Amino acid sequence: MTRHLLITGGAGFIAGNLVHHWAAAHPNDTLVVLDALTYAGNRATIEPLIAAGRLSFVHGNINDRPLLDRLLAEHAITHVAHLAAESHVDRSITGPGAFLATNVNGTFTLLEAFRAHWQSADSPGHWRFLHVSTDEVFGSLEPSDPPFNETTAYSPRSPYAASKAASDHLARAWQHTYGLPVLVSNCSNNYGPYHFPEKLIPLTLINILLGRSIPVYGDGSNVRDWLYVEDHCRALESVLLRGEPGRTYCIGGCNEVANLDLVRLLCALMDELAPELPIRPSEELIRFVSDRPGHDRRYAIDASLIQNELGWQPQVTVEQGLRRTVEWYLAHRSWWQPLLSDQYASYMEQQYAARLA
Ligand code: NAD
Ligand code: TYD
Repeated sequence: MTRHLLITGGAGFIAGNLVHHWAAAHPNDTLVVLDALTYAGNRATIEPLIAAGRLSFVHGNINDRPLLDRLLAEHAITHVAHLAAESHVDRSITGPGAFLATNVNGTFTLLEAFRAHWQSADSPGHWRFLHVSTDEVFGSLEPSDPPFNETTAYSPRSPYAASKAASDHLARAWQHTYGLPVLVSNCSNNYGPYHFPEKLIPLTLINILLGRSIPVYGDGSNVRDWLYVEDHCRALESVLLRGEPGRTYCIGGCNEVANLDLVRLLCALMDELAPELPIRPSEELIRFVSDRPGHDRRYAIDASLIQNELGWQPQVTVEQGLRRTVEWYLAHRSWWQPLLSDQYASYMEQQYAARLA
């Protein structure tokens, strides 16, 4: 049976990678991307596929119900991978409103539109709605705590995490109440190509290339579990195609690294791989700045369920993935250079000035 897949947020980091992955892995599926092209959305990420007629791009907002109704009907959508979101914790601290509007209200609007579309087709059992979420909904771990899993209680601590937690609850409630075939995934920190340079890894690489300071929050001992984005895409593919509706799947890389160690690894890779650097060794650029308010100490994921039930395993080690990522940013200046606009520069300056104060 032909799948007609809608990917929301497809001009963003993870969904952009998912679009490329899906187009290559499932050449017979119809692909539609809906994206509002916020500061984080970049059409260039998927432009080659649009130009080749491989996907339909719709510029629009997940809060626009008439647009959703039209799009779902016109493209006869059978599957949704919902990734559109406001995704940056620091921005959620200075401006939480957009996070509620998109992550909570937008998810509600999309669930309602898909429910109406699904019911109007007599509720086909094989349709799917995958709601993509984060491990940040579970809160923060101490060093000796066991990793998060599907039974961990929600304890979101940032406005971003709270908005994603609310959207996860909505997605599950729509499955439970209306029988909508919804699946939820909660993943740890992703990295790789097409990552907007406000997040730690691309920010570090680009600052090194430009000879700018690398801001490390607090003492750099906070720990994140890093997963190469292509591995996340393969996990999402498994969940969407073979997961059981009503289930949640935790996805992680089993790669816990303290921020300072990660930044040092990136500095060493850049010293090795970048032909010209304004300042070398790059570690000289590291600056400890004031901490993020409410900074979660540690995230870690127990991914046994998806490994045992769906046979998914991460394939890329952190050493391989970081090297690939550095090589990608070195080879794709034309992708990231245009993002360093006045607006971006003033946002980064404000962030940095506030943290040095
Ligand atoms: P991103 O910020 O790179 O991309 C988000 C995309 O959504 C952008 O293209 C943006 O234009 C679009 N968008 C934002 N608001 C919209 C709206 N109202 N309507 C339509 N489009 C809109 O995000 P990302 O890091 O790729 O994250 C994607 C999803 O994965 C999010 O739901 C996020 O919570 C989740 N997630 C991210 C990570 C991570 O490490 N980045 C980890 C786990 C889960
Ligand atoms: P980030 O990439 O923003 O992802 P998240 O907050 O979703 O985990 O941050 C990753 C870690 O790096 C987090 O502990 C905060 C820290 N960090 C810095 O130390 N410096 C920075 O400039 C940024 C953006 C993040």
